[in-house]
Amino acid sequence: MGYNRSLKFGTALTVLIVLVAIYYRNSENVLQKRLQALVYGLEKLENKHVITSRPKVAIGYGVCTDVYVNAKELLNYSENVGRPQHFDEINTELELLKSFAYYFRHGAAAERYMANRTLFDQLVAKARSFSSSYSTIGGNAAIMALRFAKEGCDVTLAAKLTRSLHQMMPQVINIVGGEAKRDDIHLVIEYKHGDVWGPYSSARANRYIVHNDANNPRINSFEALDQLLSTYEPNLLVVSGLQMMDNYPFPSGERQNLLLKIKKQMMDRSTSTKIHFEMASFAEDKLLFELCDSVIPFADSLGMNEQEIANLHNAMYYGNISLVANSTPRIATVLDQMRTLFKLIRIRSKTIENSRELTRIHVHTLAYQAIFTMKGSIWKNTMAAAAKASLTAHRHVCATSHVDIRKAALILDDSFSTSIVQGTRIALDIDKPVSCWDEVLKVVNEDIPVQVCVAPVLICTVAAQTAGGGDNISSAGLVLQI
Ligand SMILES: *[C@@H]1O[C@H](CO)[C@@H](O)[C@H](O)[C@H]1NC(C)=O
Ligand SMILES: *[C@@H]1O[C@H](CO)[C@@H](O)[C@H](O)[C@H]1NC(C)=O
Ligand SMILES: *[C@@H]1O[C@H](CO)[C@@H](O)[C@H](O)[C@H]1NC(C)=O
Ligand SMILES: *[C@@H]1O[C@H](CO)[C@@H](O)[C@H](O)[C@H]1NC(C)=O
Repeated sequence: MGYNRSLKFGTALTVLIVLVAIYYRNSENVLQKRLQALVYGLEKLENKHVITSRPKVAIGYGVCTDVYVNAKELLNYSENVGRPQHFDEINTELELLKSFAYYFRHGAAAERYMANRTLFDQLVAKARSFSSSYSTIGGNAAIMALRFAKEGCDVTLAAKLTRSLHQMMPQVINIVGGEAKRDDIHLVIEYKHGDVWGPYSSARANRYIVHNDANNPRINSFEALDQLLSTYEPNLLVVSGLQMMDNYPFPSGERQNLLLKIKKQMMDRSTSTKIHFEMASFAEDKLLFELCDSVIPFADSLGMNEQEIANLHNAMYYGNISLVANSTPRIATVLDQMRTLFKLIRIRSKTIENSRELTRIHVHTLAYQAIFTMKGSIWKNTMAAAAKASLTAHRHVCATSHVDIRKAALILDDSFSTSIVQGTRIALDIDKPVSCWDEVLKVVNEDIPVQVCVAPVLICTVAAQTAGGGDNISSAGLVLQI
């Protein structure tokens, strides 16, 4: 190659590189504009409905202190970990590492009981020794209470807690349940998208929780809430935190007794009190089947994430449970699961005395929010609720009150199908980001008209917190609907 020719070649290459750079900068601009339009569209919907009255919300059960720690700091991978494995309860450090590996490699959230208090206390002390570790108020019920209070509701929380934890709760929240000697602690082991641990890398940011609760599994605040409800009629009763019972070493019969009491508490409410049940991570099939019999049929509304719907769907449809599911399922898959669940629950409830008719399901996933509401039911503003849930998801994970598009990404495609079998394709409209449509669900010989809304989530690319996300998101969705 002569000197001249290589010079020409070099110039051509430079021009090409410049052109490519301009192209990328332009397409980046286009992308940013799209995201900005999307945020604007979601915020417009969220702000369309202001909460004027103060809805009364009662929330059961429990509270704890969440101690956050970075997985890579707390848990060291070694060859000894061997094969990842699920354990119903964790007794040793090796079991913890194997169990962590089991969920981490799928990026699936999990929550496990650690029977060994010595080990648990050691782990918490170790976690607290890292400067990156911090603690907050935790527990599904408590986080939902904080969110409802922030949104201007009149909130009662059922929880037994120490005086010092009580003082950390905003005074506007009425807490019933009495004083505890020691607060339950949840050790929240967090990891980011793409984190590497030994031979595994995580498909998404998520957390693995271990606890050694004494109050929450026994629902020690139950009686206090029951007593209050005998004279107080809230607009909404939220039942949550029941996963603390999962694989908990109860004396025989005690758990069934507790669940029967909860069932009665739900059954005894007048129809002016709507009841929402917030699902969670259940690994014990027996408990999940008990919930399908004594809690779910008495709820008007259900909230859950993509793992929890797969689990509940399998429990009701196949009679088995799923410990881990795809952490980024297609919209069509989740909508199909929602349809099946809606029908199965409706059918089953027909044979259960004093049951309620399910009228709402909200599924929150990393990439989108999906809400089904029965038409003509009391749930209003479904479109705005989906938008608010979506924005809350981003804000929570990024730990910010406003959406910064430089920290946001959209992982949905330009269009999605409404079902795996013969779905219609719906294009994502950036200016009207929440897609809603009507459907009719056939339940035996009844036609149930529902409205379906799907909102894309601007996922937070710099995850700051993942635990408690579901609770914030579910409450944010509910608050515009009551
Ligand atoms: C993990 O290893 C680091 C450095 O080797 C050490 O400082 C830390 O204490 C270990 N953590 C555990 C839980 O063993
Ligand atoms: C509980 O944990 C401690 C500390 O790791 C350990 O020495 C002990 O063997 C464990 N007990 C059981 C029953 O596994
Ligand atoms: C549950 O049962 C279905 C149908 O028999 C099967 O396809 C599925 O793999 C099972 N799931 C689990 C987790 O065992
Ligand atoms: C979610 O709830 C927690 C506990 O109330 C709170 O600290 C956090 O700010 C909430 N997230 C958002 C986005 O409001």
